[in-house]
Amino acid sequence: EYKMILDLDTGIDDALAIAYALATPESDLIGIVSSYGNVLVERACQNSLDLLELLGHPEVPVFKGLSHSSTTNSFSVMPISAQIHGKNGVGEVEVPKAKRQVEAQSGVDFFIEAAHKYQDKLIIVPTGPLTNLAAAIQKDPTIVDLIGNVTLMGGALTVPGNVTPVTEANINQDPEAADIVFRSNLNLTMVGLDVTTRTLLTNKETASWRALGTLAGQKYADIVDYYIDAYKVTSPHLGGCALHDPLAVAVAVDPSLVDLLKLNMKVDTKAPFAGRTIGDETRINDPALHTKAAVNVDKERFLDLFMTKLTALFKA
Ligand code: BDR
Ligand code: CA
Repeated sequence: EYKMILDLDTGIDDALAIAYALATPESDLIGIVSSYGNVLVERACQNSLDLLELLGHPEVPVFKGLSHSSTTNSFSVMPISAQIHGKNGVGEVEVPKAKRQVEAQSGVDFFIEAAHKYQDKLIIVPTGPLTNLAAAIQKDPTIVDLIGNVTLMGGALTVPGNVTPVTEANINQDPEAADIVFRSNLNLTMVGLDVTTRTLLTNKETASWRALGTLAGQKYADIVDYYIDAYKVTSPHLGGCALHDPLAVAVAVDPSLVDLLKLNMKVDTKAPFAGRTIGDETRINDPALHTKAAVNVDKERFLDLFMTKLTALFKA
């Protein structure tokens, strides 16, 4: 059995990633580390705690991660985030406050401890900036050869970015951290905008959750409707909201959902393209390939899995 850790800047699609992970028995969700981006790190912690309890899983511990990149002092929230995820990160919906609190251990130390304990059984799924994972690698470089797999939501290889013409939000938050992670020896899979903007959800699906008549179904429907409404304004051509973060969880446990391009990758850290994910030209003939990027997705199969799993979870 695989052990999974999520690293979330808990906004709306991160909330869907939590639900997907809880509804996936092939991997045991052993903890959630918190990041920043959609919301401040404190809010990300609270949202994860509240959502876990709403979904009937208060036993999963939540660990606080770092509050900003190493190159900024600001406790950063993306300017556009309130419009997409709401000021509270969950579409201005009130989720009952969890009884459980955040753990005393830091998210960075939890990563290091889990890497040594579970080794190749450990899957890490970051769906926010890579600040915490980069800090863990710098603190204990041996973990890169221990961790089974890192499957991250972030980056864009074959399509434009979503915060600048060439950068995706999670990588853009902390390009240096992302470059450390991409250049490390980790067994790494990038689930970027190339595939996540093709897996879409509409009000039809959220209406079916609301019709379940449970608190979890109703709250998740309200939360995701906010996100769908935002997409109607910012990306009307898509015809739904992008399931970025839950797709990364799905690919982590079932890579056959996507076509993977093997290549050595790096992240530009300097202007004018800071935050761009791109092939590493210095390693074109390097046979030691350890990074892969998802370039195609079986969207029907993913959406089917997504709806089956989340419906069952919201019903329970
Ligand atoms: C990513 O940015 C965040 O706003 C979303 O939660 C997702 O992880 C998409 O670019
Ligand atoms: Ca996210």
